[in-house]
Amino acid sequence: MDWDARENDLDLENRIVEPEYSPEDAEVENPLRPRALAEYIGQEKAKQNLTVFIEAARQRREPLDHVLLYGPPGLGKTTLAGIIANELGVNLRITSGPAIEKPGDLAALLTNLNPGDVLFIDEVHRLSRAVEEILYPAMEDFAIDIVTGKGQMAASYHLPLPKFTLVGATTRAGQLSAPLRDRFGVILRLELYSAEELSRIVTRSANILGIAIEPDGALEIAARSRGTPRVANRMLRRVRDFAQVMSDGVITQGTARTALDRLEIDALGLDANDRRMLSAMIRFYGGGPVGLETLAAAIGEEAVTIEDVYEPYLMQIGFLSRTPRGRCATAAAYRHLGLTPPGAENPQQSLFSGGA
Ligand code: ADE
Repeated sequence: MDWDARENDLDLENRIVEPEYSPEDAEVENPLRPRALAEYIGQEKAKQNLTVFIEAARQRREPLDHVLLYGPPGLGKTTLAGIIANELGVNLRITSGPAIEKPGDLAALLTNLNPGDVLFIDEVHRLSRAVEEILYPAMEDFAIDIVTGKGQMAASYHLPLPKFTLVGATTRAGQLSAPLRDRFGVILRLELYSAEELSRIVTRSANILGIAIEPDGALEIAARSRGTPRVANRMLRRVRDFAQVMSDGVITQGTARTALDRLEIDALGLDANDRRMLSAMIRFYGGGPVGLETLAAAIGEEAVTIEDVYEPYLMQIGFLSRTPRGRCATAAAYRHLGLTPPGAENPQQSLFSGGA
């Protein structure tokens, strides 16, 4: 759903704070992915439960129950699927909802699995209805029914499958059909990471990549990473360039600050686009409520881009609210931009008085 409207948006591809996966991330993400649960930082609740389920499945020599991972992009859903496969000592096959176009595509994937394998389907909410229909008996009974031919020539085959574990991932659990959701035995919600957790992730990544970093430097990057390891790891690479030129390659708090300020990522992780949207809401619509389509037209973005890319974090930090009549900028958003919220004291301060 998310990429369709955004595929051609060149700005987004280069957006440092974009939590969605970009091909540029592969090179740096792969060596950084933890391979075992013990290496995985944060998501303590999900991790504790998974540890128990994996151990139980291993002891019973049975495949793990199907797992649904949901939460915002960039939090490590693919990484967790890899860890699950690794801890179980089985293969991981990776695909995504939109990549499975026909029931036959799914049948081919399933029949090629080895017993116990993990099949990871990213964006599982984007499976077509016809493909979902095949998936139900596959998940429940480890078998599929294939119909060939038409009319009098039609024939149905019942095809047993190896027992496998489906790990589904979605940013939109609400869009999953109820019958599909009900077939996952384990449902884990991933949360945005704390700055402390992100700073441990940044330090670990720096060690793997051979980058010297001071604890305050890691914390500075962490604080501006919007709770998202993918963003933190991307920032680490960019800050490294500045550090190399400015301070003998060591990432200090000072170099991290200077680098991120120059990249126009502020202390809360907002970039120029986030601020541009908030100030348009305030300048043109008195802070709202403003309808999504109206706002999209005003800033020249697609409505889905606003919904999937800008809004989640702005709502998370309490800068934006969705109301039945439209989007509103909160008092905290005004203050962050150096403005006085409506109804507050000191009305002479204006949008143009500067600020973060
Ligand atoms: N890299 C990305 N996400 C991570 C995590 N949760 N733990 C350790 N390294 C990571």
